[in-house]
Amino acid sequence: MKLGCCYYPEHWPEAIWADDARRMRDMGLSLVRIGEFAWSRIEPEPGRYDWGWLDRAIETLAGAGLKVILGTPTATPPKWLVERMPDMVAIDASGRPRGFGSRRHYCFSHEGYRAECRRIVTALAERYGRHPAIAMWQTDNEYGCHDTVLSFSDAAACAFRGWLAARYGTPQALNAAWGNVFWSMEYRSFAEVDPPHRTVTEANPAHWLDYRRFASDQVARFNREQVEILRALSPGVDITHNFMGFFAEFDHHAVGRDIDLATWDSYPLGFLEQFWFAKEEKAAYLRQGHPDIAAFHHDLYRGCSGGRWGVMEQQPGPVNWARFNPAPLPGMVALWTLEACAHGAELTSYFRWRQAPFAQEQMHAGLLRPDSSEAEATPEVRTAAAVLADIGPQTTARAPVALVFAYEAAWAIGIQPQGASFRYLELAFEAYSALRQRGLDIDIVAPDADLAAYRMVVVPSLPIIPDGFAEKLAALACPVLLGPRSGSKTESFRIPEGLAPGALRDAIPLTVTRVESLREGIAEPGDGFAVTRWREDVASDLAPELTDAAGRGVVWRHGHIRYCAVWPDRALLRLLVARMAAEAGLDLIDLPEGIRLRRSASHAFTFNYAAQPVFVPHLGETLAPASWHIAPR
Ligand code: GAL
Repeated sequence: MKLGCCYYPEHWPEAIWADDARRMRDMGLSLVRIGEFAWSRIEPEPGRYDWGWLDRAIETLAGAGLKVILGTPTATPPKWLVERMPDMVAIDASGRPRGFGSRRHYCFSHEGYRAECRRIVTALAERYGRHPAIAMWQTDNEYGCHDTVLSFSDAAACAFRGWLAARYGTPQALNAAWGNVFWSMEYRSFAEVDPPHRTVTEANPAHWLDYRRFASDQVARFNREQVEILRALSPGVDITHNFMGFFAEFDHHAVGRDIDLATWDSYPLGFLEQFWFAKEEKAAYLRQGHPDIAAFHHDLYRGCSGGRWGVMEQQPGPVNWARFNPAPLPGMVALWTLEACAHGAELTSYFRWRQAPFAQEQMHAGLLRPDSSEAEATPEVRTAAAVLADIGPQTTARAPVALVFAYEAAWAIGIQPQGASFRYLELAFEAYSALRQRGLDIDIVAPDADLAAYRMVVVPSLPIIPDGFAEKLAALACPVLLGPRSGSKTESFRIPEGLAPGALRDAIPLTVTRVESLREGIAEPGDGFAVTRWREDVASDLAPELTDAAGRGVVWRHGHIRYCAVWPDRALLRLLVARMAAEAGLDLIDLPEGIRLRRSASHAFTFNYAAQPVFVPHLGETLAPASWHIAPR
């Protein structure tokens, strides 16, 4: 795994570039990402390119032996461009333009902006496409960041109508699929259909689901246009995009298919603070991040792009964007780096080289302070570099467990949650965490993945069952767990004929006759677990495998397939993982709180995420906080 950093030469006097480059190399870095926000410096006036500074920046970095990841600057269109076509900005759900003055102020559907993006990417690729220092391209930056996947502009509305016409052929077919007879929502032509915002109460969920599918397709198409240009003008150079954490607003599997490797931006402390974690967990892991946050995304993104992946932005200290922004415990930056390596990353690049003394991110730490002195993370980068050199290149073996993750599942559940605390991402994360706490390695895969070689398959929830999926599960021999709401909707967001779990009924003969959601704080006891948030009534000739204390069925089993009809709490997940592992002949390890284990093909990595020393039985030794143990397998 190579180490790198995110660098903005345009932020610093040219006189210090060479010293920066030398210091990067001396620290053990070999990759530098630049350029992704530099449009106003690359093209200060329409059609007038200023390549001089970028030529010199690339030469300076290359001169120090560094390779460059060059970003296309399309996340930050310059003011002159917005002035020229003011309608290129996205429109939010309440109808307000998302104006100039920060970033990502564009609508994925705007044809004029897309043409401008093709132009700037072509210019950049013509200039640097065959430059020997360019190791990789990054398209744009964090598609969807700052809530920018959905736009309700005229451009988006118009593109949506075309998308619907291609999908349905006739307005009658659309009306039938969506059930528009309900509330007299029928359309006579595609031209009559608007995006599903600004309705009096909720819009038709089928309308929303198609709008999300459409918006996701727009992101993929926007990315693909850049990829095609880069492939033509920069043959053989890898292309990536940097994805985000806990973010499912577009289909990353679709974008991942068009690029060479998926990268993602890892901010474990920011994510712990911003997402659903309990107060006690936020306190216990304040300066380390929850032990599964980074790992979950490593495994998710490894599954998005054929196995090749990396970390494009690694948190090096306090960030600026969470509600509260603690500093990592000493050791954590090195630990996060090594965890990425353990999951098979090709690179980990720190965000950013030097903290900016100006503008929006001046409170965001870097490897250097604004005065160029070394910040706290820097010695840890050297440590990580030394460990990496010591253990040598790592490769990833197929994990024994597959966790099936679907972006469409996140949309379907988010559109009609039915219970405010039913969060798909949280459910998938909890299932992942339950597996990882028992020392299992996990591949997170798309529903269309080949599952045949896995020894256990977990589907946290999959409301819409793709063609062939039920048959694929039925044909497996290993234990399979299906979570609540699986098979509960059709492609058109309807309740399936014969009720849920729809297409899965051949795999497990049961019928969900009713669902209910439970407010926070309600916990209905079972034997060692509790039912919270969600439960389903199930009719079946099968006797339940597990019931709650009142005798209501919780889990059903038919051969190798289980169906869990409730939101599984941690204890229930633990119980199910234990049963399935026993059936699969997989050994489990009881990892103490805060300890995690991940194996590469050649090494076993044990990490202590706890804020205190922990005795680790499988090692027979105590690990200090934020420390690791790496041994050949
Ligand atoms: C990422 C983004 C970077 C920077 C960073 C700060 O979301 O890609 O440009 O803003 O966050 O943590």
